[in-house]
Amino acid sequence: MRSLLVLCLFVAGSYSVKLEHDGDIYDILDIKEIVVTDDLRKEAYACLMDLGPCSEKYQIIRDVIPRILKTKCGDCNASQKAIYEYNAEYLKKYHNDLYNKMLERYAQ
Ligand SMILES: *[C@@H]1O[C@H](CO)[C@@H](O)[C@H](O)[C@H]1NC(C)=O
Repeated sequence: MRSLLVLCLFVAGSYSVKLEHDGDIYDILDIKEIVVTDDLRKEAYACLMDLGPCSEKYQIIRDVIPRILKTKCGDCNASQKAIYEYNAEYLKKYHNDLYNKMLERYAQ
């Protein structure tokens, strides 16, 4: 019980960084690495689509990526937008089904 409480506090306390701009997610997490790595992509996708747990690390993905998809990275600067576009192209090309499901859900 006690350890559960400690765990909850820990999870709530970390990564609850508030980003000034959505695009800053690209500076604190290597999203490109997540997109191109099978295990990481599956984990992040499950989190994003509420198909599985969001690990502490990916909570920020759940918070920010829906907005990024909807605005097409509207809050990003040039270098962040370049990463966004790389990732979108990569997903379109190699994981089109995942890409479409994410857009269907978040970018209507
Ligand atoms: C975009 O913003 C990030 C985070 O503030 C910064 O590290 C990066 O240098 C900026 N890039 C450009 C092209 O302004």
